[in-house]
Amino acid sequence: MANLNQNTEREQWGSKIGFILAASGSAVGLGNLWKFPYMAGKNGGGAFVLVYFIILFLVGFTLMLAEITLGRHTQLNAIGAYKKISKKWAWVGGLGVLAGFIILSYYSVVGGWVINYIIKSFSGALQVSDAEVLGGMFGNLIGGTWEPIIYHAIFMIMTMTIVIGGIGGGIEKSSKILMPGLFIMIVIVAIRAMTLPGAVEGIKYLLIPNFSAITIGVVLDALGQVFFSLSLGMGCMITYGSYLSKDTNIPESSTVIPLIDTGVALLAGLIVLPAVFAFGYEPSAGPGLLFITLPAVFAQMPFGTLFAILFFFLILFAALSSSISLLEVCVAYVVDEWKVKRAVAVSGIGLAMFVIGIFASLSNGPLSNITIIGGRNIFDSLDFVASNILLPLGGLLLCIVVGWVWGTDKAIKEATNDGKIGFSLAPFWSILVKYVGPVAITIVFIRSLI
Ligand code: PHE
Repeated sequence: MANLNQNTEREQWGSKIGFILAASGSAVGLGNLWKFPYMAGKNGGGAFVLVYFIILFLVGFTLMLAEITLGRHTQLNAIGAYKKISKKWAWVGGLGVLAGFIILSYYSVVGGWVINYIIKSFSGALQVSDAEVLGGMFGNLIGGTWEPIIYHAIFMIMTMTIVIGGIGGGIEKSSKILMPGLFIMIVIVAIRAMTLPGAVEGIKYLLIPNFSAITIGVVLDALGQVFFSLSLGMGCMITYGSYLSKDTNIPESSTVIPLIDTGVALLAGLIVLPAVFAFGYEPSAGPGLLFITLPAVFAQMPFGTLFAILFFFLILFAALSSSISLLEVCVAYVVDEWKVKRAVAVSGIGLAMFVIGIFASLSNGPLSNITIIGGRNIFDSLDFVASNILLPLGGLLLCIVVGWVWGTDKAIKEATNDGKIGFSLAPFWSILVKYVGPVAITIVFIRSLI
């Protein structure tokens, strides 16, 4: 994989599959495994999934292609890329950096929970199928004061260590084994979950839309989730695309990455929601769903402990391959524009994120009475601002810059390697970037304000 230190000569991805893996590594993470199932559970199941798919097809693929193309064309970090298209729009990249900063601060808290669950699974503490016990265990962890902060620190240090070293060899090589590993494991666990007695209700809940459940709140959540899950709207795919060589097939990559991402999210949903119904939880239980249902499923499997250990490790890996991309967007900017040493940038930014994360963590316990946005605690407010506001806003502005300022003709020329690659949907894509994307995002914004 590329050396992301932009002070040295710009490197490129080792191979085509290297890029696809790194970009899907960024996309596939806690967003798919932890957030998607509980978002679906909270927003009426099938209703959410249906809206998610509509937005994925209209906006997700479109913006994936736009970001990667912009990155490869400019060969620059998020802010630099916008600046190169037009000085007036550089601040859009700045919004992305801000979003990355906010997201990683609480993402790391959840990453810490995963590390704690790895340890719990080694100790056999998770070998229970009693809903109450598992719920209590999760509540105790996240509601604590020191314990979740310590694990949050460990996750943040892991992320920082990888990014300081340059995410070179290690991550690309390990992705080649761990990503397919995650996929195989998740299929096995999904089969077990879907065959639990009573699981069918969960499958129906996730896949059959109840149209009356579709409200503007559901649409805004689905919009935010598409951006979050695909790592869009904050320049992450611009940065990764900037390490691409001129002969890659961008239209193809922009199709494959969202398909992998969505496949993993759906499988995670097909583990968590069937288990919710089989064990009598509430689908709307929130951020704890993954952590409460998974152990219950493992307890019903042969070699449950082994599965639990492996699975939580794979979740951690998926989380790290996303968190490094979040940190990298901020670091690349500071290294490039402020001419700060990489290790210094990583330490400073990582520390600041860690401190904000402390508040996010405490807001699940001692500080839970502090509410910021619409009754949400600090943790949920950070997520709301980043996912539901900053990322879609970044996407809207990306549409404007690529569709109108740079122009779709030039973008298509870049995406097709000067016409050498077939891209039959190009005219359709132009319409999506110039009109459908901006209009759809604006409507959702305005409607949800009212
Ligand atoms: N897509 C990642 C996930 O699903 C999170 C992420 C968001 C990463 C934005 C980079 C940028 O976990």
